[in-house]
Amino acid sequence: MSGRLEGKVALVIGAARGIGEGIAERFVEEGARVVIADTEAEAGRATAARLGGIFAETDISRQDHAERAVQTALEGFGGLDILVQNAGIYPWTLIENISTGEWDKVLAVNLRGTFLAARAALPHMKAKAYGRMVFTSSITGPRVTSPGHGHYSASKAGINGFIKAAALEFSGYGITVNGIEPGNIMTAGMKAERSEAFIRSMEAAIPLSRLGSPRDVANCALFLASDEASYITGTTIVVDGGQTLPEGADFRINPSSV
Ligand code: NAI
Repeated sequence: MSGRLEGKVALVIGAARGIGEGIAERFVEEGARVVIADTEAEAGRATAARLGGIFAETDISRQDHAERAVQTALEGFGGLDILVQNAGIYPWTLIENISTGEWDKVLAVNLRGTFLAARAALPHMKAKAYGRMVFTSSITGPRVTSPGHGHYSASKAGINGFIKAAALEFSGYGITVNGIEPGNIMTAGMKAERSEAFIRSMEAAIPLSRLGSPRDVANCALFLASDEASYITGTTIVVDGGQTLPEGADFRINPSSV
């Protein structure tokens, strides 16, 4: 199937690289026009150029930037149908060492950024009586966690709560609000923020035996952004290769062999 987003305008925040870039690319393959919003101007411009989109320099933790990114879609493409707030940071710090500054930064980008993006997009989607909002959450926080993820877990669990509240409030306007909970996805951010040992241990914990790719997440975002998902709102989809399934540490144990 192709053309699933024909005629649609999508704003993808945190799309210069990684999962967000994968989402924007998948949307373009299906006919959407995209605004690439990101703090990283050089990489963001390159991604936008590659995808035939428009770049909007955006720090999503700032209200004026969130509004400017939405404005870029309205002025550049004449509307806004799909909002993806994917920008997120994930420093790896034990709770006893998290400074208030680091705590506030993670919450500001991941959680306040999600609220600011939704609020900025809302009036335009409301006026059109159509909208798809998709937020990148995580399995970390809503379902599981590991040491070093105190602030990150809180921010992503917060996103899941916000998704429910926004879905309910926006339901009368033809706007759906959903989220994705990726497991461990191989991206530049993952390589920069997590040790090789962490990545290997995650790989061993995934029943499908590999880390995910940005495209694995992008396919889910595409579904949630498309009209096929028109009756789905206020929920999240886990994209984790089965990582959150096992009851015990050794999930490859076979009853016939013990
Ligand atoms: P990444 O670090 O590779 O890419 C993130 C992008 O967001 C970058 O282009 C970065 O410049 C941009 N960004 C960062 N702060 C921003 C801000 N304040 N405003 C606008 N843009 C900003 O990260 P990755 O791995 O692609 O992750 C993307 C999202 O997926 C994040 O929300 C992350 O928490 C979430 N996630 C990632 C997982 C993984 O295993 N990689 C697992 C679960 C969730």
